[in-house]
Amino acid sequence: MPDIRVHKAHLQDARNVFDLVNSLSGDGTLLRRSYAEICENIRDFTVAETSDGEFLGCGALHLYGPHLAEVRSIVLRPEAKGQGAGGLLLKALVEEAEQHAVTSVCLFTRIPTFFEHFGFRVAERDAMPDKIYKDCQTCPRLYACDEVAMVRGPLPKVAMLGPSKLQRPELVTLQVGSTNTGR
Ligand SMILES: CC(C)(COP(=O)(O)OP(=O)(O)OC[C@H]1O[C@@H](n2cnc3c(N)ncnc32)[C@H](O)[C@@H]1OP(=O)(O)O)[C@@H](O)C(=O)NCCC(=O)NCCS
Repeated sequence: MPDIRVHKAHLQDARNVFDLVNSLSGDGTLLRRSYAEICENIRDFTVAETSDGEFLGCGALHLYGPHLAEVRSIVLRPEAKGQGAGGLLLKALVEEAEQHAVTSVCLFTRIPTFFEHFGFRVAERDAMPDKIYKDCQTCPRLYACDEVAMVRGPLPKVAMLGPSKLQRPELVTLQVGSTNTGR
């Protein structure tokens, strides 16, 4: 394996992250992110680079709360694939979730086999209503989604986003199967 290191992103990485993430948003592999959104959330990102500081790829950990985090925007430059950098990024994001004592980490993907290498398992998407309310409700693929929901750790028992937050501003007890996404 070449000498690859991963570290938390700095604002100086935002341009590389923006270019790489959006290079794969056209076919739906990754959600499109604006440059402003990436700058605003740059502290979610971890980057992989060579020992010379050449940018290889990135991934992000979005925190919903103590009950759930999400791996997002994990991607390598095409020439950097297959050398272990994706695995290093994913391990760093999982470790970050553990440092925050988050109990469950979720993601939506078309390549579940990659994530199974790192302890993720396929789950019902309704079990992650925070993710659905954050992204899926506004996604043009809402009724034609071909992504698989995965989770590492127990399924979350509470949710923080969605209409029910209007009735209970604190953590909302989750009833699995009650979220109607239309899918
Ligand atoms: C997915 C991606 C991040 C993997 O990064 P990578 O550096 O090539 O992966 P690694 O070299 O660390 O591979 C780790 C393991 O996963 C396996 N793997 C890699 N890519 C895989 C894939 N697409 N499907 C299934 N398994 C895969 C490898 O064979 C390796 O297994 P091994 O440990 O038994 O040898 C990279 O291929 C990529 O950028 N893909 C395009 C963007 C994308 O689809 N991102 C996911 C969005 S949810």
